[in-house]
Amino acid sequence: MSNVKDRLSLNLQFGVFSRLVFLTLVLLNLIHTCRGQSVVTGSSKPIVGIVGDDVILPCYVEPVINVFDKTLEWARPDLNPRYVLVWRDGEELKTKHSSYIERTSLFSDELKNGNISLKLTQVKLSDEGTYRCFVPALDEDATVRLVVSAVSSPVVTIAEKNASSSIVVLQCESKGWYTEPELLWLDAEGKILSAGPTETVRGPDDLYTVSSRLTVEKRHSNNITCRVQQRNINQTRETQIHVPDDIFNILSSSSSVAVTVAVSLTVCKVFLLLFVLFCWKNKNITSKSLI
Ligand SMILES: *[C@@H]1O[C@H](CO)[C@@H](O)[C@H](O)[C@H]1NC(C)=O
Ligand SMILES: *[C@@H]1O[C@H](CO)[C@@H](O)[C@H](O)[C@H]1NC(C)=O
Ligand SMILES: *[C@@H]1O[C@H](CO)[C@@H](O)[C@H](O)[C@H]1NC(C)=O
Ligand SMILES: *[C@@H]1O[C@H](CO)[C@@H](O)[C@H](O)[C@H]1NC(C)=O
Repeated sequence: MSNVKDRLSLNLQFGVFSRLVFLTLVLLNLIHTCRGQSVVTGSSKPIVGIVGDDVILPCYVEPVINVFDKTLEWARPDLNPRYVLVWRDGEELKTKHSSYIERTSLFSDELKNGNISLKLTQVKLSDEGTYRCFVPALDEDATVRLVVSAVSSPVVTIAEKNASSSIVVLQCESKGWYTEPELLWLDAEGKILSAGPTETVRGPDDLYTVSSRLTVEKRHSNNITCRVQQRNINQTRETQIHVPDDIFNILSSSSSVAVTVAVSLTVCKVFLLLFVLFCWKNKNITSKSLI
């Protein structure tokens, strides 16, 4: 009996305790909110930067406070020195890693809106990494991951015309990709055409060159697209080539000319033979008549 009572009181105590903990947490949270403690937010999704272009790494304070007069730090923890940009007393300090000199800036007009986004110009492959946006006064930070990609438009050429089989071979090449892209051939309706294997070469600059050949027959529609893409980061470059119908006409007419010539030659030979035969017979007759 007393055992049950003990357990009951224990349960009661535990219940009271957990409720107390819960209340304290709620209270702390309320105090936090009342103080208007802002949080710093970056981006949960990686930001994609294209080599040679500019990119903005988002970072902002919420609820909004004016951070113009605060110390703000953008850094890459994997570098030494790690600073990408430091802002103090309303201006940018000279302190930064040498590879970011003249390439990073804040939107100074946006700082009053709590927007600490970083502008990075002339993106390089080595810029890929995780960036940390830190506001010491709030003791708050956020991270943004930058993924760098190099892209280039493919070049499509007619590599080969084969008169005897009435086909055209197209070549598509695209130089300067990072990371390795995939290459697709599409017809005018966007359907994937089967081609030879894609050749991939990685240069000393770490950039990839991809190329592929496609055999086009007359029955294919004339507008063919070569698409090179990095599916995971939504980067696509494509080039369309118009294979003129008369390419096939020239090919087939040139082969029909060949046939015509061949036929005519045979006909000529037959005529010549007949002529020779005729002459020989005639000669025989004349000689006979002479005898
Ligand atoms: C911060 O400023 C940049 C540059 O003006 C802008 O592109 C971005 O949308 C702003 N971000 C927020 C959260 O307002
Ligand atoms: C053209 O096609 C025919 C038949 O497919 C092949 O035998 C020949 O080698 C090809 N010619 C060239 C120049 O590729
Ligand atoms: C093929 O492309 C050309 C221009 O590139 C366009 O004028 C033509 O209408 C296209 N033809 C088809 C069948 O899509
Ligand atoms: C790629 O595009 C799709 C759909 O348009 C989108 O859902 C996805 O978030 C994009 N991915 C990146 C990395 O931008």
